[in-house]
Amino acid sequence: MATAIRDTEQPQETVVVEAPHEWDVSRPEIYTEDRWQPIFKEMREKAPINKVTGSSFGDYWNVTTYTPIQHVEALPDIYSSADGITILDDSDFSPEGEEIILPMFIAMDRPQHTDQRRVVAPAFTPAEMTRMADDIRRRTGETLDSLPRGEAFDWVDLVSIELTTGMLAILFDFPWEDRRLLTYWSDWAGDVELSHNPETREERLKILFEMGAYFQNLWDERVKKDEAPDLISRMIHSEAMRDMDQFTYMGNLILLIVGGNDTTRNSMSGFAYGLDKFADERAKLEGNPDLIPNAVQELIRWQTPLAHMRRTATQDHELFGHQISEGDKLLLWYISGNRDETKFERPDDIILDRDKAGRHLAFGYGIHRCVGARLAELQLRILLEEMAERRLRVNVVEEPERVAACFVHGYRKMMVELGEY
Ligand code: HEM
Repeated sequence: MATAIRDTEQPQETVVVEAPHEWDVSRPEIYTEDRWQPIFKEMREKAPINKVTGSSFGDYWNVTTYTPIQHVEALPDIYSSADGITILDDSDFSPEGEEIILPMFIAMDRPQHTDQRRVVAPAFTPAEMTRMADDIRRRTGETLDSLPRGEAFDWVDLVSIELTTGMLAILFDFPWEDRRLLTYWSDWAGDVELSHNPETREERLKILFEMGAYFQNLWDERVKKDEAPDLISRMIHSEAMRDMDQFTYMGNLILLIVGGNDTTRNSMSGFAYGLDKFADERAKLEGNPDLIPNAVQELIRWQTPLAHMRRTATQDHELFGHQISEGDKLLLWYISGNRDETKFERPDDIILDRDKAGRHLAFGYGIHRCVGARLAELQLRILLEEMAERRLRVNVVEEPERVAACFVHGYRKMMVELGEY
């Protein structure tokens, strides 16, 4: 049995720490050096909900255990998404007031959120997954068959990025030969540092305009045709989109590209890295492909490709005995909730046949729970199935380079060699 470290439902004295401090987990180096685990463990033990003041992102609350994270997400009227969903404030996006902020429903509250989510949600039903599965399987197989043998290569580039890009291209029915543009645009759109830096700021805006023009062309082509099942056509022909301006159309497209990109990519990189680290578990999977559906969930939990989501209090509120004030920023650390010892036995370990592995928080919870979750799960399941079909094993040959951020939790580069079993 996992031991209950602390009953988070009991009020506790609020611990406030001032940066610089170990508990300022906005520091990117703890992720690049892969040493965030004991820091969050200590917070879960000593003060699961605590406050950090004076960080380079200002003051914020850390919410580090499973139940309070769910609780906050279940109260979207009190804990709003509209001021931003990462530790960065909206003003960080436009330091000189020149940046265009595109409306995206992930950063909206009800009722606008509900209306816009409704437009894209039908693209992710089980029936749509069945429709896309053959295409995704074929592309995944082609990618695996094209990988170098007997030499090291970068798994992030040749597999994780390639397959994620292909998956998004299938979702949008995006011109296949141009599919890497989706990655390129996502990298520029999603990296706020690039808009902070005066040298890259102009370049970023230029690239976003190019992206806008490209999608405008797709819109113009598809608006003339009958409705098709791809996401762009679906948006064009939906009731809600008819009254939507082009900014909203573009905002939603970028949300889908950025939302699906780093996340799915890093779950596939996490699969390669995690199973290399837990070789006994890998052997279990190689001996029993029926474990694949549960393994997909466990690998997503273990990686947790988005470390946090942020909420902002719309009113004063008491959260498990802690006094939250209107305007306070709360960071919901999925990366820590998914390692909560009271919910997951041996949480730092990958256990592919873990009971109810799908109870993790990596897709969030409540009204904003990831709309693309089924697609990401499908892509990961197909990758594992096609690997099993070919009896392929990934051996990581050197420590990967990790993303320097407290939001996207993942890998920049991971050199591997393919083996067979
Ligand atoms: C929302 C994670 C894949 C599109 C979210 C949220 C998380 C998340 C944590 C926010 C939940 C919240 O605020 O409560 C992930 C992970 C993925 C993944 C870990 C892969 C393993 C995808 C894919 C797409 C996508 C493939 C689309 C192609 C979105 C969108 C939202 C969202 C549009 C906003 C939903 C809303 O606000 O209602 N995702 N995601 N995601 N995700 Fe994903």
